[in-house]
Order: sequence, then structure tokens, then C-alpha cells
Amino acid sequence: MKLKEALKGVLDENELTKLIKSYDLIGDVIIIRIPYEVYSKREIIAETLHKIYPRVRTIAAVPLYAHTDELYRTRDVQVIWGDENLETTHRESGCSFKVDLKHVFFSPRLSYERMRVAQKVLPTETIINTFSGVGCFSILIAKMQPQTKIYSIDVNPYAYEYMKENVALNKVKGTVIPILGDASEELEKLEGVADRVIMPLPEHAHSFLPLAARALKSGERGGGVIHYYDVSAGRKGDTLFNVPLERARDIISSAFGNSLRVELEEGRIVRSVAPRRYHVVLDLHVVRMRFS
Ligand SMILES: C[S@@+](CC[C@H](N)C(=O)[O-])C[C@H]1O[C@@H](n2cnc3c(N)ncnc32)[C@H](O)[C@@H]1O
Repeated sequence: MKLKEALKGVLDENELTKLIKSYDLIGDVIIIRIPYEVYSKREIIAETLHKIYPRVRTIAAVPLYAHTDELYRTRDVQVIWGDENLETTHRESGCSFKVDLKHVFFSPRLSYERMRVAQKVLPTETIINTFSGVGCFSILIAKMQPQTKIYSIDVNPYAYEYMKENVALNKVKGTVIPILGDASEELEKLEGVADRVIMPLPEHAHSFLPLAARALKSGERGGGVIHYYDVSAGRKGDTLFNVPLERARDIISSAFGNSLRVELEEGRIVRSVAPRRYHVVLDLHVVRMRFS
């Protein structure tokens, strides 16, 4: 039974329309966004959710407009039912991801995107995952393509510790290389090594683009693919990708002149974040130009 249906008669019509129907089941924890108008009803909402999902151990609320940590992308969460421990293990696409939802970013809604990217990877690629969180993209790729090598960077020490644990849990040691550090400093050290760079940080990825392009393989057959995440506003359709594409091209041509050409391989809306505002991904094929 759906939550809104189960709450009929418990919340009035006005409260029911305010209640956002989406929530995430992560391992044995539910995270639900609850608007201010119905926040006082959080306990009854949690009890009702628990009746629908009796195996759930903890239910936590993210108040609408809750603070999101600018750097680590974690959200304020408040346990409203069950025990306070927000550490759980989530199963996705044959992988296990251990996370503590108080301290690390994790979204099960990115599962399609993780699989989409993983399916593009060829068997012996070297990859850099610049904002890897607890290692989800990296671990999925390592499981699907065990001969790859994936440098997996995150600045959050909690994410790094969980990433190391997840690498062991999923038996991909040696394929995924967890790195604790700032992406710009770590990318500096990885010049010319990568076939593919994954940049899942929509608000800020653009400022790391020159370093990501520099990290792609050099030489005659150099270049590679950058999965570039950005925020775009407007109507759904191909034009939604024009502004981020032009931004990426401008940034790369300012840094490298016409020695690199940027082609759009695929563009996709990852999720809607506000009316007519979207997180988008652009798969950019970066080609090194040869001049005689
Ligand atoms: C949106 S999350 C990435 C989620 C992850 N790719 C996944 O699939 O779960 C962004 C991550 O980037 C990390 N981050 C933010 N700024 C960073 C930086 N300058 N260098 C490295 N990591 C950074 C945050 O700690 C956070 O874990």
C-alpha cells in the first residue's frame, strides 16, 4: 500500500497534498523528506511507514529545505522511528554498499546512472572517479570489468573509510584504488593516465574540467571520455544540454586552445532538482588534435 493511501484519515486532505510521496529505502533504513507543514506529524508518518515496511530498523526524516553540507553533500537527517544508528548495507546491481547516512552521501536513485556509465566501460580501461563517495560507481565497474583500474577519490574521510570497506566487501581490491584527498590535488598527480574520468558533482564539476582533461591519456591515440555532471535550467529537450556543453567546451578551449576537441557522445537528465532545473550528465568525448 502506498504511504499517502495508508495515511488517509490520519492526515487531513491539505496535509496529504503537502506530503511528498517519495522516500528512499536504503538497506534497512528509510529516509523521507517531510515538509514543514506536516513535520509535527512525523511520528505517525513513521509508524505508518513501518507498517508498510515491517523489516525496516530505522526511519529518518530530512526536513524540506534541510541543510546540505556544501563539501561532503551530506544532509541533516533526524531519526523519527527506531534506533539512532544510520549505518546500513544497501544492495544494488549485485554490489553491497555499506554507508552511514549521517556522514556520507548516498543515493539509491543514482543506480540507473551508475549502471549506464559502467556499461560503457571497455575491459582494460584506466578510470578516475573524482567524487566517488563510498565507491559505488567504481565498485560496480570493477565487478563488471575486473581488468580495469579505477582511481577512486573522495575528500570526506568517512566516505574514504567506507569506500575501503566496500572495496573489501565486494572483493575488488587492487582494481579499485581508494584515495583520500581533494580531487584537484589528486588529478594533478594523475596526468595522462586515464581513458575515462567520472565527475559526479553537478554544482562544482566544471571547475575541475581542465585537470580532468589533462588526466586523459596523451600521445597520438590519446584523449578519452569525461562523464561531466552539471546543473541545467530550462525545458526538457536537447537544448537543455547546450548550455553545459558550451560551458565545458569554453573551459577546455581556454585551458588547451584547439589542441583538444570536445564532442557530445550522450546527454541525459539524471534528476529534477526544482521546477525546470535538472542535474544532467554529458558524456564528452575529448579528442586530441594532431597538427602537421
Ligand atoms: C554527489 S556525491 C558523489 C556520489 C557518488 N559518486 C555515488 O555514486 O554515491 C559527491 C562526493 O564528492 C565528494 N567531494 C566534494 N568535493 C570534493 C573534492 N574537491 N575532492 C574530492 N571529493 C569531493 C563529497 O565528499 C561526496 O562524497
